[in-house]
Amino acid sequence: MTMDKDISPSRDEVADPDVIDANAHADLMADTQPAPISPPPVPQAAGTSRFHESARAQVQGAATYVDDIPEIKGTLHAAPILSTVAHGRLLSVDASAALAMPGVRDVILARDIPGDPVLGNFAHDEPVFAQDSVQHIGQVIGVVVADTVMQARRAARQVKCQIDALPAILNVHDALKAQSYVLPPVFVRRGDVQAALKTAAHTLHGTLEVGGQEHFYLEGQIAYVLPQEQNQWLVYSSTQHPGEIQHWVSHALSIDNHAVRVECRRMGGGFGGKETQSGHMAVWAAIAARKLKKPVKLRMDRDDDFLVTGKRHPFAYDYTVGFDDSGRITGLKLTMAVNCGFSADLSGPVADRAVFHADNAYFLEDVDIASYRCKTHTQSHTAFRGFGGPQGMIVIETIMGDIARQLGLDPLDVRRRNLYGTGERDVTHYQMKVEDNILEPLLLKLEQTSSYRLRKQSISAWNAASPVIQRGIALTPVKFGISFTATLFNQAGALVHVYTDGSCQVNHGGTEMGQGLNTKVCQIVADELGIAFESVLATASDTSKIPNASATAASAGTDLNARAAQYAARNVRDNLAQFVAGMDGCGAGAVSFRSGQVITPMGSRPFTEVVKLAYANRIQLWSDGFYRTPKIHYDKATLTGRPFYYFAYGAACTEVAIDTLTGESRVLKVDILHDVGNSINPAIDIGQIEGGFVQGMGWLTTEQLVWNDKGQLSTHAPSTYKIPTTGDVPEHFKVDLWPEPNREDNVFGSKAVGEPPLMLAISVFEALRDAVARARPGARVQLDAPATAENVLRALGRLDA
Ligand code: MTE
Ligand code: HPA
Ligand code: MOS
Repeated sequence: MTMDKDISPSRDEVADPDVIDANAHADLMADTQPAPISPPPVPQAAGTSRFHESARAQVQGAATYVDDIPEIKGTLHAAPILSTVAHGRLLSVDASAALAMPGVRDVILARDIPGDPVLGNFAHDEPVFAQDSVQHIGQVIGVVVADTVMQARRAARQVKCQIDALPAILNVHDALKAQSYVLPPVFVRRGDVQAALKTAAHTLHGTLEVGGQEHFYLEGQIAYVLPQEQNQWLVYSSTQHPGEIQHWVSHALSIDNHAVRVECRRMGGGFGGKETQSGHMAVWAAIAARKLKKPVKLRMDRDDDFLVTGKRHPFAYDYTVGFDDSGRITGLKLTMAVNCGFSADLSGPVADRAVFHADNAYFLEDVDIASYRCKTHTQSHTAFRGFGGPQGMIVIETIMGDIARQLGLDPLDVRRRNLYGTGERDVTHYQMKVEDNILEPLLLKLEQTSSYRLRKQSISAWNAASPVIQRGIALTPVKFGISFTATLFNQAGALVHVYTDGSCQVNHGGTEMGQGLNTKVCQIVADELGIAFESVLATASDTSKIPNASATAASAGTDLNARAAQYAARNVRDNLAQFVAGMDGCGAGAVSFRSGQVITPMGSRPFTEVVKLAYANRIQLWSDGFYRTPKIHYDKATLTGRPFYYFAYGAACTEVAIDTLTGESRVLKVDILHDVGNSINPAIDIGQIEGGFVQGMGWLTTEQLVWNDKGQLSTHAPSTYKIPTTGDVPEHFKVDLWPEPNREDNVFGSKAVGEPPLMLAISVFEALRDAVARARPGARVQLDAPATAENVLRALGRLDA
């Protein structure tokens, strides 16, 4: 924005607001002379546990989600037609029976796409509707449009698709053998692994399988598309990335980006599942809306949502590790086979992040990592909280446990010995220096507060007296890189509007999915203007307000958007400061904003009064703000550089019990010490830590995705897919925050919190492996994730592989 350098009027130029509009401003008999400083009526907003800005509305059912928006007259409903074959040639689609059903208006297929039949996403490898071939069970061939959603869903099942089946690749091992990839493999190497392994005092070889995860957002995928005048479109979408929806829709309709406006007030959870996947519903609904010239809503049935959309990537690993007598790793050769599903989607950056987190917290000197991005005939797997980070870390954590058991050492001691150092052993395998490492003191503190050593002993005593139930314990660290690995996404914009009554609206490019982003942004803006938290309102994400916004992802929502909003608010504050300084004859730098007052060396005035005066004097009361993360860069080809602005750290100590006869398990006690820097909102941050941990626990214990030998996902409803319930939350669940600000200059000294705590749940998995080892002394623990009852029994040698 442009702004005159000196906007402050001289003292006698200050207009009396009453003169400008005596009626509207009859209450503005403002005395332009400052009053003496009054006691602070407005507390600081940031750093305190403000309620989530929507908390009350959400518990009252008064918060609006896309399906709550009143429907425009004539709105039609769409339901997807799904492929019933994993891989095959699509020979014909017979919609006659469906079209004859009550309420059915049309069946929309690939031929109805006005623009590119290939989705406008980054990889450009995915058809909007399957046309000549199908590539997974659940792939969408078209949509049925009807007067009601149930009519559309019923009719979709009556569409007859003739498919000539072809051989399907249904798991990552077959894909590896066939060299079936969605993207080329990536290799990251440092030192000489062959030599390191040859000279190592000990070596271990192992394999591990880790399953995927369904997002299970409470609000399913949905889009509502409304035709506007002159081939313009309004799209309501439950999405983490309104800008991506805008691009995909305009690409499919073959119109300019400017003709599509996407709005999202909030999501009922996204967890990464609405970073790209929400775009499909929007595109399908838009194509239907465009053909029928009617508003079209597509609200996915939960089972269809499971069958259509991608999940967390399942991984398979093969490793050889060399280590010395103390358990310190001297060489690691690691292969990661990533099950990407049928298309690339976000698999490239997910697999990259897994490579970046294969070290977790540990220095790997001689290392060789191969990452294969395998194509299978399943849903296209996508972002999920942690974005490959969890899949990167879990293998090195299992290796730590294996080394400790092999050497008869304590796993925490082995972990400690391998930590990144300070000033030495501090460069990652991708050549980034770890400058902010706090894990040494953090682990020590948690070891003490959780009584880790004492409890280890008492668990041994307890187990010795227990023939069936066996307990286990593990304390594991997390180091998670913050920033989008693709440097360009690390930018954000915001708008701050101050109205003449002193209330403030903030809008930014981020989206609210329950994580509390809007609340934090309002806290930061309130403090920048020195006004009450309640005076600041965040409005819906909207591509017509902030263009080209990045996805709200990579945990960077607050880092990026709260800073952009802070800068926007700072511009408004600067305008007001100059204006008031002009009145009081001081420098603008001498003006402060706090407690709802604007304070100069002459005295203070209420913020509301200053705003009215400023308006009357034609001072700009709104501004934009823009932020881009400093210091980051990285080379995509070699995966080297500084992809992350900083690291978020944490650790968890978890105690579990397993039933050695049934394989069932429980998480008994969890102690967490996690680093959020200066917490902008401790209640929200602790909520993120608890929620992330429990979600990670679900991934590693009960949440099992099962595809049958035809490639059909047989766990596609809550009846068969088990996310944790309140009853699974450990009875002892203690979360503490590490008391130190971010060492990098980040908003409020805070650190990102959205994803890192999920990986604290790796302590659950390691505790389960500890329990298995205690129940079966001497045997190598071979436990795959999720640690379902069956997998625990297998690990105990009580069930055939
Ligand atoms: N918390 C809630 N309640 N709902 C969500 O969907 N998504 C997670 C995390 N926490 C999510 C959540 C994911 S995957 C990310 S990347 C971050 O929130 C995104 O928000 P942030 O960057 O503002 O933290
Ligand atoms: N994290 C989350 N989402 C992303 C990323 C990332 O690093 N890169 C692209 N989308
Ligand atoms: Mo989160 S997986 O980066 O949306």
